Amino acid sequence: GKSGYDHYMLKEIHEQPSGIRECLRGRLSELTGRVTLDLLEGTDWDEPVTLVACGTSYHAALFGAALLRRWGINAQAILASQFHADQLPLTSSSLVLGVTQSGETADTLRALREAQRAGATTLALTNVVGSSAARECDHVCYIRAGPEISVAATKSFASQQVALTMVAALLSDHRSRELIESLRSIPDAIQQVLDTTQARTVAETYRDAESYFFIGRDLHYPVALEGALKMKEITYKHAEGFAAGELKHGPLALVGEQTPVFALVTGEGRAANKTIGNIKEVEARGVPIVAITDGRADVERYADHVLSVPDLEPIASSVVANVQLQLVAYWVANELGRSIDKPRHLAKSVTVE
Ligand code: M6R
Repeated sequence: GKSGYDHYMLKEIHEQPSGIRECLRGRLSELTGRVTLDLLEGTDWDEPVTLVACGTSYHAALFGAALLRRWGINAQAILASQFHADQLPLTSSSLVLGVTQSGETADTLRALREAQRAGATTLALTNVVGSSAARECDHVCYIRAGPEISVAATKSFASQQVALTMVAALLSDHRSRELIESLRSIPDAIQQVLDTTQARTVAETYRDAESYFFIGRDLHYPVALEGALKMKEITYKHAEGFAAGELKHGPLALVGEQTPVFALVTGEGRAANKTIGNIKEVEARGVPIVAITDGRADVERYADHVLSVPDLEPIASSVVANVQLQLVAYWVANELGRSIDKPRHLAKSVTVE
């Protein structure tokens, strides 16, 4: 049942801390700073490593590919429906990862089967034990998010981000005690977000907006895409996510008083400073700004609303920032009286190409 929540979606958003603890259980060594996933160890794969997925899982795949590249392994995320094994230089030393909550998405299964026929090794990252992807792939990494009933993927995305971080660390032999501490800190940090009412207030303020824009750079870029997908899926309103740097290459023409811009900006680095520059460009045009941020005064000065996240390193920060966007989408849909767990026209698992 829904354990007292009005919708499965809200219940599943609240299950993220426990889901992530489960995803991490027995897979990290604080002593050595290493991931101890029992998987694919010691093989040198041809590059690029390819990730295939659809929808929300594709956003997780973009996040995973970006992490692999950070850690020195060339990687690409391809939409499963756009994947054609014969257009890639796949060999018997290639690795193709299928990211799929259900393990039953037709496009993703087709891509994985094609990759296998081309000789590649396949790894399924899935939530469902015994699913087609789990059975057919050469290797499987379970994300252990627990059953997800709501059509909108929430806790599975967070667990995919965490599982992909571990897989990327494993493949690149990235060792860091800080990373492990940071992964361990995510559940409590998400709980802090869940304990605030900021997202609900923002949703009440902007429930009648014409359109919602989401911007983020680097690891926050897939989160911006995911924030927009969640918003359109359950509110039926227009929303778009952009890489923050792309704003002035076109989308800036669309912004106005009726189009709040949600800006993901955390940390102190150059990337954050550039996003602040993007926020200023938008703010100067009278556009409402909602900043998802970890407390920088110069961000809060330009923002009409702040959705706080604890001060964390970039990976954890992206996982936690996304939770604020899940909550905004949920509360806007709730304000509008939408059928949140079963949005019109959509199915939980898309078994046709
Ligand atoms: O089960 P999968 O992860 O393969 O599903 C892929 C997409 O259909 C799925 O993520 C979809 O985009 C969600 N409904 C979004 O909330």
